[in-house]
Amino acid sequence: MTTGGKPRAIVLGVGPERGLGGALCRHFANRGHHVYMAGRTPARLETLAEVIAAEGGSATPVVCDATSEEQVAGLFETAMQAGSGDLDLAVYNVGNSTPGMIRDMTAQDFEAAWRVLCYGGFLFGRECIRRLVPGEGTLIFTGASASLRGRAGFGAFNSGKAALRTLAQAMAKEYGPAGLHVAHVIIDGGIAGDKWFSRMGHEPDEDELKRFIALDALAETYWNLYRQKPTGWSFEVDLRTSVESW
Ligand SMILES: NC(=O)c1ccc[n+]([C@@H]2O[C@H](COP(=O)([O-])OP(=O)(O)OC[C@H]3O[C@@H](n4cnc5c(N)ncnc54)[C@H](OP(=O)(O)O)[C@@H]3O)[C@@H](O)[C@H]2O)c1
Repeated sequence: MTTGGKPRAIVLGVGPERGLGGALCRHFANRGHHVYMAGRTPARLETLAEVIAAEGGSATPVVCDATSEEQVAGLFETAMQAGSGDLDLAVYNVGNSTPGMIRDMTAQDFEAAWRVLCYGGFLFGRECIRRLVPGEGTLIFTGASASLRGRAGFGAFNSGKAALRTLAQAMAKEYGPAGLHVAHVIIDGGIAGDKWFSRMGHEPDEDELKRFIALDALAETYWNLYRQKPTGWSFEVDLRTSVESW
């Protein structure tokens, strides 16, 4: 598929329309990027591609498991092949919360969490670096409160997210001087999306909504990171609501 000369973006970790991955894809597409949207569920990706097309943007769904070395390399191959615009924006957004007490946790569950949270970020970052460096581009990783703090009942999640953060720092320091802007976003609180609303079992009312970080605020933050100039780069941005205790 030709991207019509548009710049290209890749977002890995795309699920429902009302999730961060979906919001990032729409935001980037609405601002002129052709977006390669990657996740494990074809139907969700197809639905999102239709939404983006209806809004006048363009996107290509790519089925990809972040923990597969072959599939992550394939995702970048797909995004590099077609069309003519440069790939200049890549986001690793994968990272489902994996609660569990350490005493009861199996070694397999711990390792599986690390593979999704950190190892997948390594694969994604490495493939991005191999194709974009030297040259200009932005590589962003999605973090959480867990990136900074250990918490009872979340040992696997905390350790995977914290490892992803220092991996991102290493990438920023290794490849920043060659032109790659690597950034990490700490999402300190619940996102106003399907993950929380389905847990609640109802759509939030106006008051409940104030406790959740808005998808458009998050998407705008990623976009602002992308727009920064090399003479003023942020490595890290944190976002929370005004009512979050932290
Ligand atoms: N939700 C929150 O309140 C919250 C709070 C703080 C931080 N975060 C962070 O924000 C990011 C996601 O935000 P979100 O909760 O709104 O979810 P989201 O962006 O809607 O969904 C991420 C999607 O990634 C896909 N995914 C999961 N494992 C994958 C894998 N191995 N390979 C490829 N894709 C995979 C899943 O879709 P498929 O199952 O269809 O593949 C999932 O729906 C995560 O990094 C999370 O840690 C979320």
